[in-house]
Amino acid sequence: MAEFDLIVIGAGPGGYVCAIRAAQLGLRVAVAEGRETLGGTCLNIGCIPSKAFLHATHSLHEAQANFAKMGLIAPAPSVDWDRMRAYKDEVIGQNTGGVEFLFKKNKITWLKGWATIPAAGRVAVGEDTHTATTIVIASGSEPSALPGLEVDEKVIVTSTGALSLPRIPETLAVIGAGVIGLELGSVYARLGSKVTVIEYLDAITPGMDGEIARTLQRLLKRQGIDFVLGAAVQGASVAEGKATLAYRMRKDDSARSLEADCVLVATGRRPFTAGLGLDALGVALTPRGQIATDAAFRTNIPGIHAIGDVREGPMLAHKAEDEGIALAEIIAGRHGHVNYDVIPGVIYTTPEVAAVGLTEEALKARGQAYRVGKFSFMGNGRAKAMFAGDGFVKILADKETDRILGCHIIGPQAGELIHEVCVAMEFGAAAEDIARTCHAHPTVSEAVREAALACGDGPIHA
Ligand code: NAI
Repeated sequence: MAEFDLIVIGAGPGGYVCAIRAAQLGLRVAVAEGRETLGGTCLNIGCIPSKAFLHATHSLHEAQANFAKMGLIAPAPSVDWDRMRAYKDEVIGQNTGGVEFLFKKNKITWLKGWATIPAAGRVAVGEDTHTATTIVIASGSEPSALPGLEVDEKVIVTSTGALSLPRIPETLAVIGAGVIGLELGSVYARLGSKVTVIEYLDAITPGMDGEIARTLQRLLKRQGIDFVLGAAVQGASVAEGKATLAYRMRKDDSARSLEADCVLVATGRRPFTAGLGLDALGVALTPRGQIATDAAFRTNIPGIHAIGDVREGPMLAHKAEDEGIALAEIIAGRHGHVNYDVIPGVIYTTPEVAAVGLTEEALKARGQAYRVGKFSFMGNGRAKAMFAGDGFVKILADKETDRILGCHIIGPQAGELIHEVCVAMEFGAAAEDIARTCHAHPTVSEAVREAALACGDGPIHA
């Protein structure tokens, strides 16, 4: 008999959640993890530390911009960068320690070290080889390299280095106007850095609803972030602790350069499979280097599965978690399932941006007839009391059936508001279902209801 029913490789949100659900369902589970702490990129060098910085710097912005308006008179707080980084590390510690506690509670064995798969059913960690009926690869992703730029995590950094800079840079160049670039760009802009975002495409946040992307760019510009769009970064040189970036404008191929104390490379992530021994095993990859899997997360090698960033789909912690739960249930003989049509996406800037379902652009491309219901937070009393009237909720519903096809929000607590619409979509709801649901007053959630009303006879407060 194998030593374990299941060995999961990687203790990020995909792997640790898969392990916990499998243990809850009665399986004997081990997780191989080479980092000193559990939680993967998300808890150690990604989502959680960046949210600590976003929370701290948002609070700073509130104090600088809005306290006096509310009659809270005090000198604006100054920044103790060492203390702020220590707070970020404490938040990481609480979260990674929490996963370790859950492992103990669920009797999950932590195999400490980097794992290799010498054969199906076997996982080597350090000197030891363990046996398992099923292996799940949840090894995540790493920042993509950009040709011509050598990351030293000091002057030219990825998100990892940007979360541990020894001092706040006076000037920061961000390459890539995606989620990482905008979130970390916002952090440093609020801390006083002069931030310039250089993006290859002619719009920020590719794949996002165009109207929301334009609004986000306008609002971030108002916060002092500069954007250079349609520009391909070609290389960088570092001298005396400063970087000079070389880029070309796509419209006329003109060469430009930009000097910065720090350059953040945020041009996407790629699956992390190094050292697993996939080549020797013959595990099939997609042309993009992801582990090829079927709908039940099976690779081409029996007994080996893959979930999260290492396989296809959006590189989001919650998508990985859902895949982890679904796979654990499948392995335990149940019917795990992920609905990829209802996976929300959130950008934690101020204002926040959240989306689920299809964009207007996607609906047009499909030739699907739809209605748009929009409501501005300017018409929402609670948002106005919080100086958060910028932004709007946009609901897209089928023209014939009124079924909700997508929702796009830019505004206060967008990342929380979106879930009402996710639940509605899971139930196949019509916009009218949200419009006829009583929403407490005064809440920012009323803006979602008003947008749903706007899909029908019209909102009340506009
Ligand atoms: P991204 O794919 O979101 O954005 C990368 C951007 O870089 C694109 O807009 C692309 O056009 C641009 N780019 C590429 N090459 C370029 C060049 N040579 N010059 C100028 N621009 C260039 O990637 P990002 O922001 O690095 O994030 C990686 C992954 O992590 C994404 O899948 C993202 O969803 C995920 N993530 C999600 C978060 C969240 O859900 N809040 C937070 C952080 C990351």
